[in-house]
Amino acid sequence: MKIAMLGTGMVGRTLAGKLDELGHDVVIGTRDPAGTLARTGRDMQGSPPFTDWHQAHAAVRLASFADAAAHGELIVNATAGVASLAALEAAGADALAGKVIMDVSNALDFSHGMPPTLAVANTDSVAEQIQHAYPAARVVKALNTVSSMVMTDPGHIPGGHVVFIAGDDDQAKATVRGLLGEFGWAADTIIDLGGVRLARGPEMYMLLWLSLWGALGTPDFNIAVHRS
Ligand SMILES: NC(=O)c1ccc[n+]([C@@H]2O[C@H](COP(=O)([O-])OP(=O)(O)OC[C@H]3O[C@@H](n4cnc5c(N)ncnc54)[C@H](OP(=O)(O)O)[C@@H]3O)[C@@H](O)[C@H]2O)c1
Repeated sequence: MKIAMLGTGMVGRTLAGKLDELGHDVVIGTRDPAGTLARTGRDMQGSPPFTDWHQAHAAVRLASFADAAAHGELIVNATAGVASLAALEAAGADALAGKVIMDVSNALDFSHGMPPTLAVANTDSVAEQIQHAYPAARVVKALNTVSSMVMTDPGHIPGGHVVFIAGDDDQAKATVRGLLGEFGWAADTIIDLGGVRLARGPEMYMLLWLSLWGALGTPDFNIAVHRS
């Protein structure tokens, strides 16, 4: 499938690399391709420069958000949640119309220092904001509750553990389920919460996720859900 990966951070790189490995035709989107290629130092999260990753994944073309979105039959939003609307505006409504947008973002706001707060919560979510701004697109929240390594390699965590999807379009959710299956998520480990409004829960879980990261000393963990 032709896939647009919007986002050049660790999540965008990990998902793009895995999708490329799986045989998809991936274009990774950024604000300013020349500027992204010119970066030499580590970013604020300590990730190495984009070019280091790109040398090992030369088949993944780097392009502007608009060019990437035009290429993708499916769009992945792996941009900073506080900037996702700006990134999608740059992608352009025409390039998003009718397409599935798998939204893995979290609305972490670092502008007031550490720990981050959620810029959107309680009565709204990034996924809903995107769906509201682009009603012709088909938004599915997914994978935002796990680290990038776990997203593409659920077997890295022993035992049964789950991820969540939420979105208004059942066919779009089936498409996302298919992709998650390619990553290794068994059907019974993907919990469909319901409509896009239900993205609020997984997005607000981020506060607990950050505490768990601190307590466990690693971002590579996940939650299991047991029922009677
Ligand atoms: N890190 C994790 O383990 C994890 C797990 C689950 C979910 N997430 C979520 O996944 C998303 C990606 O995370 P990440 O750590 O890979 O990267 P990130 O640093 O959160 O986001 C990087 C991307 O956001 C874009 N961006 C930043 N400011 C922008 C602006 N003002 N306008 C347009 N675009 C802007 C950047 O564009 P440029 O390419 O132009 O720099 C870059 O592509 C985030 O929403 C994060 O919360 C992360």
